[in-house]
Amino acid sequence: MQANLTLDNPLRVGLSEARTVEPCIVVIFGATGDLTQRKLLPALYSLAADQPPLPNNLMIVGVARRPWTNEQFRKYAEDGIKEHARQPYSEALWETFAQRVSYEQVEFGDTEAFERLGARLNEIDAEHGIGGNRIFYLATAPEYYSTIAANLGKANMVERTVSGPSYCRLVVEKPFGRDQASAAELNGELNKVFKEDQIYRIDHYLGKETVQNILVMRFSNTIFEPIWSADHIDHVQITVAESIGVENRGGYYEESGALRDMVQNHMLQLVTLVAMDQPLSLAANDIRQRKVEVLREIGIMSERDVVNNVVRGQYEAGQVNYQPAIDYRDEQGVSEHSQTETFVALKLAINSQRWAGTPFYLRTGKRLPERVSEIAVKFKRPRFSLFKDLGGDALPSNLLSLRIQPNEGISLRFDVKLPGQTMQLRAMNMDFAYGKFDTTPPEAYERLLLDAMRGDSTLFTRREETEMAWGFVDAIESAWHGGAGANSPLVPYTSGTWGPRKAMELIERDGRSWRRL
Ligand SMILES: NC(=O)c1ccc[n+]([C@@H]2O[C@H](COP(=O)([O-])OP(=O)(O)OC[C@H]3O[C@@H](n4cnc5c(N)ncnc54)[C@H](OP(=O)(O)O)[C@@H]3O)[C@@H](O)[C@H]2O)c1
Repeated sequence: MQANLTLDNPLRVGLSEARTVEPCIVVIFGATGDLTQRKLLPALYSLAADQPPLPNNLMIVGVARRPWTNEQFRKYAEDGIKEHARQPYSEALWETFAQRVSYEQVEFGDTEAFERLGARLNEIDAEHGIGGNRIFYLATAPEYYSTIAANLGKANMVERTVSGPSYCRLVVEKPFGRDQASAAELNGELNKVFKEDQIYRIDHYLGKETVQNILVMRFSNTIFEPIWSADHIDHVQITVAESIGVENRGGYYEESGALRDMVQNHMLQLVTLVAMDQPLSLAANDIRQRKVEVLREIGIMSERDVVNNVVRGQYEAGQVNYQPAIDYRDEQGVSEHSQTETFVALKLAINSQRWAGTPFYLRTGKRLPERVSEIAVKFKRPRFSLFKDLGGDALPSNLLSLRIQPNEGISLRFDVKLPGQTMQLRAMNMDFAYGKFDTTPPEAYERLLLDAMRGDSTLFTRREETEMAWGFVDAIESAWHGGAGANSPLVPYTSGTWGPRKAMELIERDGRSWRRL
């Protein structure tokens, strides 16, 4: 049976083997919020409905300010699950799941309310034989992260240990700070209550299948690693494109912008995974060590680098997918004089033996023509071209594309001979799509929640990574808003296009071009 399963669908075996979860209480702060309803509760439901299911005594306690009853919270959960869970809604499953879910009203600044919460958690723990395990998930606005951590500490709800009989972990949403100084301060506050190894900083990109597959592709195959360097790779380009605008998050986005919202976390994480050397083992600390080395090699951009190698844009009215799109400055919560970038393209260098001479181009933006995220590794053409006279040199070179969303998968482009009497060459793609397996890949949040429950922090970012990534972003922000700003202006682009003309020039001046996605 197992053998057949493996043959039919090798991924399925991989999915189920990786799960052994102890009972615990998952406490979600910000439980009446959007993230909880759209992502966290659906992810927990899908995990509970999966095979093997979560233990029956894995309990979920939602915490927020409004005076909801358990029933109100369950209804909110049920609605979210019906609409967003990967696993189909089933009344029977829901009835069982609902038994795990309860709600506690807590004002985050109220220390006594935390004491009541602690007492309630202890009751639930005793009732269900949980043994003290806790996951505190901060799904709140960032200004509450340190208050909640401090109040958990004051109410004696945190066992400051990673090797005790039970565990206590803190999962923190993004954004983690808004620059290096605030990230360091927040880290300091959290570390007063939790040890670093108890803290799980979320970057949901790391929960995506294709992102995890980067390591497997690179280090489990003999064909890639020997050529994974400037000797053979011409350049790497990473695109994280969104077709939506800021929707109802204009106020938040005004304070953030594309650089902070996307580059500091997701995109630099992708760069580190593509560029890092082989880790000593799969242990979380070994992988993070290699990622930190890449961040160090990237270093900090000078003002001159920022002027030459970073483009910032802001969308104007246009059309996306045949629908009219308004100007960013007309969005709700956005200033009519806003200087916030909704698009960034940049070229960065990794100063290492492996990568010197191979640029990494990054672009991300809102109101672009498609919602698509991809890493494209473009190889060099052969040094000596046997097929020059047959047009071989005019063909695009080998390209490995890792599609992160949508249609997660991998494709490899290579040259083949067209069938027939003459020697004609054509570039073809070999495609692997996760969709070809009859299993839907788990949602990123499922994987991350599961890993937090299993105590595997590989897919979470460590203090040092976060702060170094902010250092990179801070240098760009300060060039933009300081002396070099005049030479690095915000340029408009029409909604529904691939960003400002300057972004094309950034790559075209090197004789390269962005992929058409
Ligand atoms: N939404 C997403 O798709 C998404 C994606 C990635 C990351 N994130 C991050 O996830 C976090 C949460 O985002 P969200 O969109 O879910 O936020 P949200 O919809 O605004 O929810 C905020 C939650 O915090 C609670 N809250 C606020 N102030 C409180 C207080 N003083 N005491 C007790 N509860 C309080 C609210 O409870 P009441 O409603 O009862 O006041 C609500 O449950 C943010 O850090 C965000 O950046 C969100």
